[in-house]
Amino acid sequence: MTKGVNSAPTKALLSSKKAPRQTSALSGADKLEKYPLEVSALNPNQNQNIDEASSANAHITVLLDEAVQALAIKPNGVYVDGTFGRGGHSRKILAQLGDGGRLIAFDRDLHAIASGKSVNDPRFSIVHSHFAAMQAKLAEMGIKKVDGILLDLGISSPQIDEAERGFSFRYDAPLDMRMDQSGGKTAAEFIANTTEQQLAEVIKNYGEERFAKSIARAIIAERNDGRAITTTGQLAQIVAGAVTRFEPGQNPATRTFQALRIFVNQELEELSLTLPQCLALLAPQGRLAVISFHSLEDRIVKQFIRDQENRDDLPANFPVRAADLPQPKLKSVGKTIKPSAKEVKANPRSRSAVLRVAERTLVV
Ligand SMILES: C[S@@+](CC[C@H](N)C(=O)[O-])C[C@H]1O[C@@H](n2cnc3c(N)ncnc32)[C@H](O)[C@@H]1O
Repeated sequence: MTKGVNSAPTKALLSSKKAPRQTSALSGADKLEKYPLEVSALNPNQNQNIDEASSANAHITVLLDEAVQALAIKPNGVYVDGTFGRGGHSRKILAQLGDGGRLIAFDRDLHAIASGKSVNDPRFSIVHSHFAAMQAKLAEMGIKKVDGILLDLGISSPQIDEAERGFSFRYDAPLDMRMDQSGGKTAAEFIANTTEQQLAEVIKNYGEERFAKSIARAIIAERNDGRAITTTGQLAQIVAGAVTRFEPGQNPATRTFQALRIFVNQELEELSLTLPQCLALLAPQGRLAVISFHSLEDRIVKQFIRDQENRDDLPANFPVRAADLPQPKLKSVGKTIKPSAKEVKANPRSRSAVLRVAERTLVV
């Protein structure tokens, strides 16, 4: 299930700290010629080379051992995989569960659901839903508490590599970008109906693109000239003409594609709505493990965990101490975990992954 309406970028979800970028100055035509096939709506740090493209239905699971280990699986526990994908994490969780254990997996993508249906295991259920409906869906199944929740955010390799999904301009395909193709608006529909200002905001806030205004202007000018923007190739070409500088080795449309993908799928809103549900669902000592692929989502996870922790950062002269306040329900576990050099070499798409882990405290 997908929400049908896309809202404008939520400023509160975002902040604009940017790392300085190196840039390259090529003409629009040169840019497309030099980088025609390299990237998609992956985030810019996942800048993907054609050599990295995987076969159409394969997904190499990122931080497989680390994420499942972080859940500290209890053999008879109840676990949730909020992002089934092709089930790499789910299979490993099932392998660690005993006969009394249970795993409920979610995905909003119908291909992922079809893949999940092939898992023949009585301890396993797959639910077609966005994960922001997790608490309600679990309640329908009579589940109020769980022992661990995993979110492996973003898109899967099959979504990128299947041309018709419209995430990638390695192919010229319909400009779709919906993870859930059973509902909601496509990127092409959004572009057909948005204003230049809203489009610029989306590209700036979700793509952290410095040329957002020029790109939005070029897209809307094309549209207003009667040429609907309906394909990935068309969009990539317009963007390439509007971007004057970009990171070496990166397609000029990378940030715009990332922004539209995040917007179309309401990815940051989904995450912000889901983290409090995870807190409510976790039983004492239950674990939350979240793998993020760009700083916009990692910032939300980091802030959520930090807000739940008992950090006595009240001013020294403040009459109340943290110990006097309601006690925290979550504590972070260890430091952030990133893929090893070996994993990044084997799967370059993993390079921007960050795993954060937190545990539900005993406080009711
Ligand atoms: C990175 S892949 C997960 C890969 C998986 N861990 C594996 O090992 O195969 C992310 C998956 O999460 C799904 N997804 C992303 N956001 C979602 C959301 N808000 N609700 C449900 N599924 C979502 C995508 O459709 C995609 O299949």
